Amino acid sequence: MAVDGMVRTHYCGDVRSSDIDKDVVLFGWVQNWRDHGGVIFIDLKDREGLVQIVFDPSVDKENHKEASKLRSQYCIGVKGTVRHRPEGTVNQNLKTGEVEVVVKELKVFSESDTLPFPVEEYVNVNEELRLKYRYLDLRKPRMQNNLMTRYKGSFATRKYLDSEGFIDIETPILTKSTPEGARDFLVPSRLSQGKFYALPQSPQLFKQLLMVSGFDRYYQITKCFRDEDLRADRQPEFTQIDLEMSFVEEENVMRITEGIIASVFKDTIGIDVKPPFKRITFQEAMDKYGSDKPDLRFGLELKNLTEIAKKADFKVFNSVANSGGLVYGLNAEGCINFSRKEIDDLTNFVSIYGAKGLAWIKVKENNELQSPIVKFFSKEQMDEILKALDAKPGDLLFFVADKPKVVYDSLGALRLEVAKKLNLMDDNEFNFTWVTDFPLFEWNDDENRFEAMHHPFTSPVEEDLQFLESDQAKVRARAYDITLNGVEIGGGSIRIHRSDVQQKMFRALGISDEEARLKFGFLIDALKFGAPPHGGLALGLDRLMTIILKEESIRDVIAFPKTQKGVCMLTDAPSEVETKQLNELALKVIKKKSQK
Ligand code: AMO
Ligand code: AMP
Repeated sequence: MAVDGMVRTHYCGDVRSSDIDKDVVLFGWVQNWRDHGGVIFIDLKDREGLVQIVFDPSVDKENHKEASKLRSQYCIGVKGTVRHRPEGTVNQNLKTGEVEVVVKELKVFSESDTLPFPVEEYVNVNEELRLKYRYLDLRKPRMQNNLMTRYKGSFATRKYLDSEGFIDIETPILTKSTPEGARDFLVPSRLSQGKFYALPQSPQLFKQLLMVSGFDRYYQITKCFRDEDLRADRQPEFTQIDLEMSFVEEENVMRITEGIIASVFKDTIGIDVKPPFKRITFQEAMDKYGSDKPDLRFGLELKNLTEIAKKADFKVFNSVANSGGLVYGLNAEGCINFSRKEIDDLTNFVSIYGAKGLAWIKVKENNELQSPIVKFFSKEQMDEILKALDAKPGDLLFFVADKPKVVYDSLGALRLEVAKKLNLMDDNEFNFTWVTDFPLFEWNDDENRFEAMHHPFTSPVEEDLQFLESDQAKVRARAYDITLNGVEIGGGSIRIHRSDVQQKMFRALGISDEEARLKFGFLIDALKFGAPPHGGLALGLDRLMTIILKEESIRDVIAFPKTQKGVCMLTDAPSEVETKQLNELALKVIKKKSQK
């Protein structure tokens, strides 16, 4: 580490009292600048932290004069002597707080324009501005810590998987679409005009083919691309810790996954998580929490009241209950003080998930009930409802009646909203839960057909094979998801390794034999050449790190993320291209009216 004859001896953040009286050479950025009675103090910062450097005119007049011209974020190099800070000026909160460096030599490598925002600390800066000047935003200690911790996480993963005999094999980025349920990003081919590559939504098919090749244990920390609506925990390109194993059952893959997670937590934040993690079936998760990624840091369980509702006089409830719908309740314990406005806001909130209303009951001190709906229930029916919800004075009970998806989605989301209001989510707790026993198929109401709940390569449970083409709703999958504090951080399955079963699966999904051959012929063929039983899983590294680092948004653990609209503020991608480039690809852009 040498510049202009200066050879770095320490990172700024690494100077200690054991270095007192030594000469050191440091490179870094000017963070704070203070003039105390003619002596200039500067906090010099690099990725390891900051150290105080001192320009004293009695030591060197010339340097002192130069130092008076330094400004925030100038990049400099200094040579100086470490000394103990004077009595009373020691800063115990700083790793370098006992020492300072008296500068004998100063080199200014580059000056800095006035910054668009301060980079010293976390100040509330508009995110688009942060992303436009991301290289400055990344100078902040918090962002430096996030990316360095992320690196520790991926390094821990590599060490662990290597010790378990996994090998890292790269798979193509220019490839054919793999259906993971999102839209593909397409790349036009110049050499085969009119044809397109798809960016991989995951390496799913390639990793299965590597099992057919006999590699036995594969992993990759790799980018995946999905053109979907973005949210706080979704990016169009994100990173998976992707793995696949031959000759395994569910337990083997789950054990390895737990091993990765334990290593990552240990090597990033020094926490011992304790596998094996608890498990819950998909059905129980939906029933009790309205979600297949339940946050189990708190209770607030939903209760199925459909049977009681069938008998009630409340038309909204009994008509739904008697026509295949569900009526569920949620006891927001101790929330009797929610105002009318708060309840109205929550009613609007659940309407996002399709709920047509949100019935409620307040249980007062004397067990008297305040509610727009009690009048529709007999005393016995109401007692049954109160008992089912374990209602006590001070509680506020909520109800939704609708088709199952709406009931689960709306009350599942309301449960989280109430927990937030009651401060029940402790971000120091890491609550891992496996979700198992998923159905293989999910009904798509819009398209009026079954689709794969995970992906079409997931193996059905052996006994349910018989229903594959006749009664899809009955078929269970050999799939498992790992969740952490209500976030799906990973998912996987034991795969179909028989060509005939794979073909049946495509038929069950309404994919004709011709279409299956066109899209997945290579897989169907590969499964005919001695394919081993295999299975695997992929962890979402960005999501995992977001939780470990207690960040709100996945964007804060990614160096150069995109906005919610999929835009890179830094480079302005996506952008228009030159006509020449389009011509080479035989493409023509037809502008929408609004863009003309
Ligand atoms: P799946 O689609 O469940 O499985 O993806 C695995 C994990 O990747 C993360 N993830 C995302 N993270 C950020 N932004 C996104 N847009 C995004 N989409 C997914 C989630 C998720 O749990 N090939 C299968 C795995 C397998 O079967 O082995 C797959 O991709 O944390
Ligand atoms: P209404 O009879 O329409 O005035 O509704 C009485 C109460 O029932 C109101 O609090 C509505 O929000 C609620 N409600 C209406 N439809 C539903 C529904 N499908 N599920 C739950 N509550 C509902």
